[in-house]
Amino acid sequence: MDKITLLQPDDWHVHLRDGAALQRTVPDMAKQFSRAICMPNLVPPIKTVEEAHAYRERIMAHVPAGLSFDPRMVLYFTDHTSPEEVKKIKKSDYVNAIKMYPAGATTNSEHGVTDISNIYGVIEQMEEHQVPLLLHGEVTHHHVDIFDREKRFLDEVLSPLLQQFPKLKLVLEHITTSEAAHFILEQDRNVAATITPQHLLFNRNDMLVGGIKPHFYCLPVLKRQTHQQTLLEVATSGNPKFFLGTDSAPHSKNAKENACGCAGCYSAPIAIELYAQAFDQVGKIERLEGFASHFGADFYGLPRNSTTISLVREEQVVPEQLDYMDGEKIIPLYAGKTIQWRKV
Ligand code: DOR
Ligand code: ZN
Repeated sequence: MDKITLLQPDDWHVHLRDGAALQRTVPDMAKQFSRAICMPNLVPPIKTVEEAHAYRERIMAHVPAGLSFDPRMVLYFTDHTSPEEVKKIKKSDYVNAIKMYPAGATTNSEHGVTDISNIYGVIEQMEEHQVPLLLHGEVTHHHVDIFDREKRFLDEVLSPLLQQFPKLKLVLEHITTSEAAHFILEQDRNVAATITPQHLLFNRNDMLVGGIKPHFYCLPVLKRQTHQQTLLEVATSGNPKFFLGTDSAPHSKNAKENACGCAGCYSAPIAIELYAQAFDQVGKIERLEGFASHFGADFYGLPRNSTTISLVREEQVVPEQLDYMDGEKIIPLYAGKTIQWRKV
């Protein structure tokens, strides 16, 4: 197949940042996706529905003329999140979920949750009102190996959580291991997962063999090839529990190419083409539409989009770098390399 047409896709996990960064991130996102779940790990984080509405306005101010883009907003869970916010989410037209970062797990997670039992009262409300809980699924104890942090989260946090709240709507974000994929498969329909392009296209060898490649560094960190294969299998299986979430996360070139490089891959400008490449590599391009355009909307209880996009099999070279705020540059995922698909 050299051309595919699919319903306009949505991105169920993206970092747009704030302020001047929006000049880069919002047009890149809006050219690719109709809706996006906008992550709340700003400095300071988005903790209330009121703050989420104000952030959405700032995003909307950067949507290019002629494009329609619907940012879906998320609150950042802290130890002090009030159960009242859950009721406010139910009344909001724009806020869809609450994201839980274990404190210290990733970029701007210092204000995250220190112990999940601290927020069980709010989670009870979320289960009752069917407000999705989005999870960064890694434990943060210093003694736990970084490659084991997702698996330990399943055992120590997620299993007990779902035992206590079996009807909770929950998305395990950016899964990276076969253990996480199998865990999701074993749960009911209220439990789903997003998968990024970098975890489908790369593994830790791409990041570490022949020199450290900081632009592949993200969290959860890339795992071994066997995990990559399982992720490809479940993403392309047609199972609606797995859907698209890029985790596109801009950091300037300087912040990435640094003795203490930041975590995050910037995929927004070519995200759908990267997914097409991954699906095509395993001969499953016809499964892309469900993953990219149906299952996420269905999970969130939002209507599927009505317009379409087409992708053609045509080589394109990803730009080496892009302009970013304050005269800085950003290096996109796959920079300088050729991909086989182009959105038309
Ligand atoms: O690699 C990542 N970057 N993982 C995350 O969880 C956060 C993100 C960011 O905000 O930079
Ligand atoms: Zn993220």
